Amino acid sequence: MPYSIAIDGPAGAGKSTIAKAVSKELGYVYIDTGAMYRTVGLYCLLNGISITDEDTVVDRIKDIDISIAYDDEGVQQVFLNGENVSTKIRTQEVGEAASTVSQYQPVRDKLVSLQQKLASTTSVVMDGRDIGSKVLPNADTKIYLTASVKERARRRANELREKGETCDIEEVEKEIEERDYRDMHRENSPLVQVPDAVLVDSSNLTIDETIDKILDIAMHR
Ligand code: DC
Repeated sequence: MPYSIAIDGPAGAGKSTIAKAVSKELGYVYIDTGAMYRTVGLYCLLNGISITDEDTVVDRIKDIDISIAYDDEGVQQVFLNGENVSTKIRTQEVGEAASTVSQYQPVRDKLVSLQQKLASTTSVVMDGRDIGSKVLPNADTKIYLTASVKERARRRANELREKGETCDIEEVEKEIEERDYRDMHRENSPLVQVPDAVLVDSSNLTIDETIDKILDIAMHR
């Protein structure tokens, strides 16, 4: 039976860095579900579809083919109608679009079934917002990974500065708060800490300490 670790949590909590490292350590496949919602967001932006126009977004889902592959280093690559969009989806604008289109149930239905299919044959570490609650409700280990808004904003601002972009930390904090609110208060599959998830607050932990903590939790389940 494949083994599964579900990691949910708000934007900027470090889920993907941690999930990637945990999957490498255990030899599992890492599945980044946010990348799939970002791909739907990117499709809308590229095709002039208003992301707030639910009917049109839902109507166009049938034209969106999303597939996943892994490069030689085992890094997830996401394809939109055959084109590798793994780099294009990593912008703030696409992240915001993903947060909006992810509210629509038919979008979720399509992506959740792809995610469940991927996890049905191989052991996975999957991260997102609804993994423990909806995608893999029987996951062997469930983690709710979070950090304070201030700490997440600080990390995000550092990332932007490393890329040579200037940013206003208060602005970054505001964007994080807005995204948290939308992801936690939407009608369909909002971000929640399910009762059987273990809370890991990484505000005062290094990346290595967070990885070790999650590996420890997974080993003792
Ligand atoms: O983790 P991320 O920032 O790449 O995710 C982008 C958006 O996609 C996030 O704001 C909400 C949505 N999302 C979701 O609704 N469910 C998931 N399992 C993963 C992401």
